[in-house]
Amino acid sequence: MGNINAVVNYETTDGGAIAIIAMDNPPVNALSHALRSGLVAAIEKARDSDAVKAVMLIGTARAFSAGADISEFGTPRQPPSLIDVVALLDAMAKPVIAAISGLALGGGFELALGCHYRVAAPGSRVGLPEVKLGLLPGAGGTQRLPRLVGAEAAAQIIVSGDPVPAAKALAMGALDAVLEGDFRAAALDFTREVMKAGGKPPRVRDRDDKLAAAKADPSVIDRAVAKQLQRLRGLPAPKACVDAVRAAVTMPFEEGQKKELALFMGLLGSPESKAQRHVFFAEREAAKLPDMPADTKEKPIARAVVIGAGTMGGGIAMCFANAGIPVRVIETEQAALTRGLDRVAENYRIAISRGSLSQAEMDKRMAQISGTIDFGAVAEGDLVIEAVFEEMDLKRRVFAEIDRLAKQGALLASNTSTLDINEIAAATKRPEDVLGMHFFSPANVMRLLEIVRARKTSYAALATALGIGRRIGKVTSVVGVCDGFVGNRMLARRTTQAEMLLLEGALPWDVDAAVLAFGFPMGPFAMGDLAGLDVGWRIRKARGVTAEISDTLCEAGRFGQKTGAGYYRYEKGSRTPMPDPEVEKIILAASEKRGITRRPIGAAEITERMIYPMINEGARILEERMAMRASDIDIIWIYGYGWPVWRGGPMFYADQVGLPQIRDRLAQYAATSPDKTLKPAPLLEKLAASGQGFAALPVQTIAV
Ligand code: 3HC
Ligand code: NAI
Repeated sequence: MGNINAVVNYETTDGGAIAIIAMDNPPVNALSHALRSGLVAAIEKARDSDAVKAVMLIGTARAFSAGADISEFGTPRQPPSLIDVVALLDAMAKPVIAAISGLALGGGFELALGCHYRVAAPGSRVGLPEVKLGLLPGAGGTQRLPRLVGAEAAAQIIVSGDPVPAAKALAMGALDAVLEGDFRAAALDFTREVMKAGGKPPRVRDRDDKLAAAKADPSVIDRAVAKQLQRLRGLPAPKACVDAVRAAVTMPFEEGQKKELALFMGLLGSPESKAQRHVFFAEREAAKLPDMPADTKEKPIARAVVIGAGTMGGGIAMCFANAGIPVRVIETEQAALTRGLDRVAENYRIAISRGSLSQAEMDKRMAQISGTIDFGAVAEGDLVIEAVFEEMDLKRRVFAEIDRLAKQGALLASNTSTLDINEIAAATKRPEDVLGMHFFSPANVMRLLEIVRARKTSYAALATALGIGRRIGKVTSVVGVCDGFVGNRMLARRTTQAEMLLLEGALPWDVDAAVLAFGFPMGPFAMGDLAGLDVGWRIRKARGVTAEISDTLCEAGRFGQKTGAGYYRYEKGSRTPMPDPEVEKIILAASEKRGITRRPIGAAEITERMIYPMINEGARILEERMAMRASDIDIIWIYGYGWPVWRGGPMFYADQVGLPQIRDRLAQYAATSPDKTLKPAPLLEKLAASGQGFAALPVQTIAV
């Protein structure tokens, strides 16, 4: 509790000569209205005190400040603004030192840039992540950072939004010192030195030595971020970031700041930023289980065991090794084990060749992974994850063995993508410890982890899975037991429609182009070629179902990229999908065989039929309580399937389009389609009729 207000404390030291203003607004010092008001009062107090000769502004060990309070965006702005606070610091006639430990992000870093000196603790990080919220730094960051590190480097930092470690920030000129030892004491010593040296406090706004190159030729800024911008495909925020940095070079400070504010206000109202802010909070909500009793204890996880060293098992083992958790991989045969571990090593080597991993780091990670063909090693695991072939009988046998061997209380998880976790759990005498941990391929890359709650899964098991998910850097969402869980169940609706579009008149490249234009990184057919068409073919055969075109391609040995041909053809050694007349012939023949008269299908219809049926399935999932929140479904699609983050996820998108329109279009398509799942789901009908959106639904517990 502070003495200025609840979140700001003011004290003096050195006989009153140094004022220490401390921010403590847990958890991360978001610059809420209370923090801004408290800061103004404290800064004015220091300014108006004759005794005070220097000021140190400090946060907590976790964060100097993580920036503006995102939850205040979209609500009426209450003065003082962050710009006012920064201007007050900037104008101080006494030197102000920002003492940064932990994070200084966004408005938090802008606060520090408004100070006359910046010192940081060794592990701290600074950055301007606003672009990730569809915004730009709006409290002077785009004007001050270029003056410290140069316009090119500043543009790169601002457009990427990635935090910069203290040592690098120091080398670039964004910090004045990185201080070892007791940070508060060291920062105070630094403040004393500055005070002793005297002189007029240097203001970042007055500097322009680092702007010389860009002043001579402002196009160096565009060139510095050309690659980043290309990847971000014309989104408004990154482009505005560059415009603002350019203003730092081409305009006087005050005008540049006005330009920055105008750009910021424009972005704040943009649909992209609204969507990205939704995703920020949705991601954090998804990790919470509201019905979990407060006294639930996580089980300690020191060692993991992964059963199966195939595509998924290897990737899952990497997740643990990357997080510094020792992991044992169990296979049935030495050859399969060696193959699996070789693939893991190869993945790390690729990372080294790309420059994203060092040899030493690879060695450290590989040392965490050890393989065995002795199933008895199951006993070593506090967590056992099964990733063997997708066959119920096999999974039940494996779980019966796990039950016999595993430690009491160990968390037992299956990575199955289609099988009933209740049935798997029933193969053990401890179903309370069993749940699904559904990773996505490649498991070491994809951020999503669906945690599948079965009938008897205990809260302790769920808490442990959520905790370990966070430790290994995954975005988690708890879902219920149903066919395909949440993500794949919705994907199946899209897959059905994709095949139908081909039969009715579209070609794979038409469908992929529409999905790409919507913002996905890849269309469904290029995706199928990448994943391998034979996977789905085998599943369909086992289930006795068909998908005419895909089956025909597989029968012709066209399994996708791995065979050089699938829905597309591939030049030797290339991953670029090329339209193939052979495929067109197969598709035309399939339409004819079904007696379908092909018609031209426009991009708008394709997009609707790729997206709306998934939303419809999402509504059914919510109705069946297989997901807790509509926003969880958004997170699953963003982190598991590459849904464009700036469209906020399928359920958020549906609310933006308007549910009546989605209901009506689905009803129209359903009227003429053999795909009965197109019929609007009852929940969609109900919400559309009452004028509500998915966002209005209360959080619910998973049905078990
Ligand atoms: N505003 C409001 N709440 C915030 C917040 C912010 N800027 N940053 C974090 N929080 C909240 C989270 O919602 C979460 O709340 P919860 O516990 O109720 O779910 C809590 O703080 C802890 O956050 P995390 O769970 O994310 O904790 P981590 O330690 O994993 O991550 C972090 C910390 C890196 C700071 C991460 O939260 C983050 O990236 N925050 C956003 C940073 C950001 O984008 N800042 C720029 C804001 S825009 C701005 O400053 C505009 C200015 O230019 C005018
Ligand atoms: P895979 O065929 O690549 O690997 C399975 C491995 O399990 C093989 O190496 C096999 O030798 C081993 N194995 C079989 N029986 C075993 C036993 N009794 N003990 C130890 N090892 C045994 O399969 P993949 O793709 O890794 O899939 C594994 C599981 O993950 C399946 O349940 C699958 O549905 C699921 N999954 C797969 C995804 C994918 O994209 N491949 C995505 C998400 C889940």
